[in-house]
Amino acid sequence: MRRTLLVLLAMLLTCATLVVPTRAAAAREVTYDRYSLMVDGRRVVLQAAEFHYFRLPSPGLWRDVLEKFKAAGFNAVSLYFSWAYHSPKSGVYDFTGVRDVDRLLRTASEAGLYVIARPGPYINAESSGGGLPAWVKTVPGRARSSEAGYQTAYREWLHRINPIIARHQVTDGGPVVLYNAENEYQVNTDAAYMQDIQDQARADGIDVPITTNDCCDGGSWSSTWATGPGAVQIPGIDDYPQSFECANPGLWGPWGEGLTERLRDDIPVFAAEYQAGAIDVGNAGYDKCRELTGPAFMKYFYKNNLVTTGATMFSYYMGYGGTNWGWLAQPNDVYTSYDYGAPITEARRLTPKYDEFKRQGYFLQAVAPLAKTDPVATPPPSDNPALTTVARANPDTGTQFVLVKHTDRAATSTDAATLDWAGHRVPVQVKGRDAHVLVAGYDLGGQRLTLSTSEIMTHAAIDGRDVAVLYGTAGSPGATVLRYGSEPRVTVLDGRVTSSYSGGDLRLDYSHEGLARVLVTGGGRRPLMLLIGTDEEAARFWRADTASGPVLVRGTELVRSASVSGDTARLVADVAGDATPMATGGATSLAARAGAGEVEVFAPPAARRLRIGTHDVRVNRTPSGSLLGSTRAPEPAPLPELTSWRARPEAPEAQPRFDDSRWTLADHTATTNPHPPKTLPVLYADDYGYHYGNVWYRGHFTATGAETTIDLNAITGLRGNYLVWLNGRYLGSAAGGVQADSGDQWTPPNPDPGPGHFAIPSGMLKPGTDNVIAVLVANMGHNDDWIADDLRFKQPRGLIGASVGGTPVTWRIQGAAGVDKIRGGLNNGGLYGERTGWHLPAHPDTSWKNADPATAPLTPGVTWYRTSFKLDLPKGHDVPIGLRFGGDPSPAYRVLIFLNGWNVGQYGGDIGPQRDFTLPAGLLNEHGLNTLALAVTAEEPVPAGPGPISLFAYGNVRVD
Ligand code: GAL
Repeated sequence: MRRTLLVLLAMLLTCATLVVPTRAAAAREVTYDRYSLMVDGRRVVLQAAEFHYFRLPSPGLWRDVLEKFKAAGFNAVSLYFSWAYHSPKSGVYDFTGVRDVDRLLRTASEAGLYVIARPGPYINAESSGGGLPAWVKTVPGRARSSEAGYQTAYREWLHRINPIIARHQVTDGGPVVLYNAENEYQVNTDAAYMQDIQDQARADGIDVPITTNDCCDGGSWSSTWATGPGAVQIPGIDDYPQSFECANPGLWGPWGEGLTERLRDDIPVFAAEYQAGAIDVGNAGYDKCRELTGPAFMKYFYKNNLVTTGATMFSYYMGYGGTNWGWLAQPNDVYTSYDYGAPITEARRLTPKYDEFKRQGYFLQAVAPLAKTDPVATPPPSDNPALTTVARANPDTGTQFVLVKHTDRAATSTDAATLDWAGHRVPVQVKGRDAHVLVAGYDLGGQRLTLSTSEIMTHAAIDGRDVAVLYGTAGSPGATVLRYGSEPRVTVLDGRVTSSYSGGDLRLDYSHEGLARVLVTGGGRRPLMLLIGTDEEAARFWRADTASGPVLVRGTELVRSASVSGDTARLVADVAGDATPMATGGATSLAARAGAGEVEVFAPPAARRLRIGTHDVRVNRTPSGSLLGSTRAPEPAPLPELTSWRARPEAPEAQPRFDDSRWTLADHTATTNPHPPKTLPVLYADDYGYHYGNVWYRGHFTATGAETTIDLNAITGLRGNYLVWLNGRYLGSAAGGVQADSGDQWTPPNPDPGPGHFAIPSGMLKPGTDNVIAVLVANMGHNDDWIADDLRFKQPRGLIGASVGGTPVTWRIQGAAGVDKIRGGLNNGGLYGERTGWHLPAHPDTSWKNADPATAPLTPGVTWYRTSFKLDLPKGHDVPIGLRFGGDPSPAYRVLIFLNGWNVGQYGGDIGPQRDFTLPAGLLNEHGLNTLALAVTAEEPVPAGPGPISLFAYGNVRVD
């Protein structure tokens, strides 16, 4: 009842004035003003990272990723919900198992994260159909509009997903703090649709503010439709200033300076999707994407944005990218891996980008005045025009935030200058393509920070004293000035730091080297422990909150949580071995990471002992007041070799006597698809309910004997192909159509997509009797619908034209044999082996012949390989495992990889640059038997198939 009333109230408010639902005396209320979001009146700087649960089909690992977000200082996760992932056909929805989004939202809450819920209906995300189920292609009415057929379809989805989101809202004690409607919806489309999505959400109980993410530069939805129908409460902007040109990682803001615009005066500045990685459109490999969007980019662009625009709502795309398993990938821009060059790799490992997020994220969470700032004037450095400053200040506390950066943003030189600031002359030094946010006039716990030219990472009140972690570029000068009533006592415990006191200000001067420790006592304030490090030293710190206050930890791979009880500090932490080079991600990804070794804990004084997970760690008390010990390296995790492969050829469908009588008759003479068929009957796979993966066609005709060629057209999405047989004889293959595949609304549909002309060898035809054409079409994913263009989105898959010299042909079609109840509708297509379960662990393969895929020759068609292996990874360890294809792949074959029945990816010379495939725990049995099955489709004879194939570990941490 309460909900109904609230919903009605919210709807009234939404329709009338678009005011956030304000609810007096609500338990938890989400409001906002021009500065920031507020939860129960408390300002929140929202620091979110994007995560796609549908790209990590192991619910058990969701917690790991979300805890890693939290440990990096994120306080929110942004979640797309993929309609396609839950709905194999109209009216059928699955929210169980790997699709259990209730569990996802609970896990986010348990990890201490707010959620930005983004259920679309359209999500883009380089996912097949942009998240629209393929069955929507057969629905009349323009997709992403208020037209009737589509409206019925998307309302069906919203009424399933909204109630789940609604019961996890902040307003009901859950984590969902914002609801994002649609995705980069453009101005020239349909306001009634945007409004209806919101009305449906309100009707379904959504009462948190509604946002939307506007494409690129704010030039579309939110600015033009700011107040009319369809306008949302908090529009935000998406920004990808580094582009997606990973092959050229030296680029510097080719798509602009990346400053998030203020869209309205009454709402905070919201960076709804800010670049934190890239799609690998040029097949450069994700390590290059990570470099393109690495710490230098993050330092300059994120800080520039923070101080220049005063944004307080950030969502970084992606925090963790994941895997396009099954047929999840949109065909044009991505392949199996959606690693994205994100701060956390596809195999869930941490990178130097993670470290940079942590330095910045901790700062945002620790320094509260950041949530409310206005621009203020600041003098530029007096003695070097190469550097410049931009500043903001909190109008209530006067705290200043000064960004120091190069005047020429592309400058690559290191420049030094003097700042005349807050009554002091202090040195600053900025590397090329770097920027620092310096703070002045700040109540740092019980201290008063006059200024610092080191950046603040975090500070915490521990044991009646303040512990602060400051940092700067290795070798750069730093000065920190603190205010005291009388001269305090300064003890330099470590490093070289000089101090002077005058006029109430204590000034510390130093160079950033290693980790300096300065204890300041007296002076009328509680003690202060200053830890002043290089970037790398700062990144070794973790902060965790306990019931008895915050704890700071230096060392370990990751601190997930901490607690203090009695005389013991306990950490739930990951302990790494010596830095093991990563198979992908490269040595650079580990450069800054601490291996096993020192662990230091700043905890309340009652804590005299340290326990990490189930292990007691011997510790000594240091002069810094901390506990210092060391961790043990984890046990090694040996992996088996992959041997005993067995093979079996398939494709009985190619043979003339194959019984296809139970296949679907392809006899439609009309379609709702906006693309007219080249010939009749309509052969579009989606029109017959076959939406994902391979489809077979068999065409029967009574030959006159005069036929000379079989002329086909197929559209598969980029990188697809098709293979053709006549009366059991292989005629050859052709590339699937790329009709405006990566194109746009300005490119007219190609009249002759994916053509294949197959000459009929003499003597092949049997005049007067039944002749059989068999065609195997390897469809890729479905096009996105980025610009709400049905011609692009509804582009058919499968054959779109077929003729045999005018002789009538009766066609039948066969795709996937139903929907896998556990793995879902995107797991399988219609290969014979898939239809008969050859990919499933239980399939008996003892009659299969011994053959190693790496050495056995391939004939055109489909060959399956299977092997099994046992694992017994050390208990309590996290050892992400990958499957590696050594050797050079041939463009003549493509390989579907099944792990225990799950389609974990596609490999091949024409498919993409990927050679390593993650086998996520959950799908992988880490303590028992596993089955691998490979379906290899060859277009032509190949002397040797894919391989050598091996297992490898991306890393090994003890998750204590
Ligand atoms: C954005 C879009 C995201 C994703 C991203 C590129 O424009 O909203 O869904 O596609 O681009 O990775």
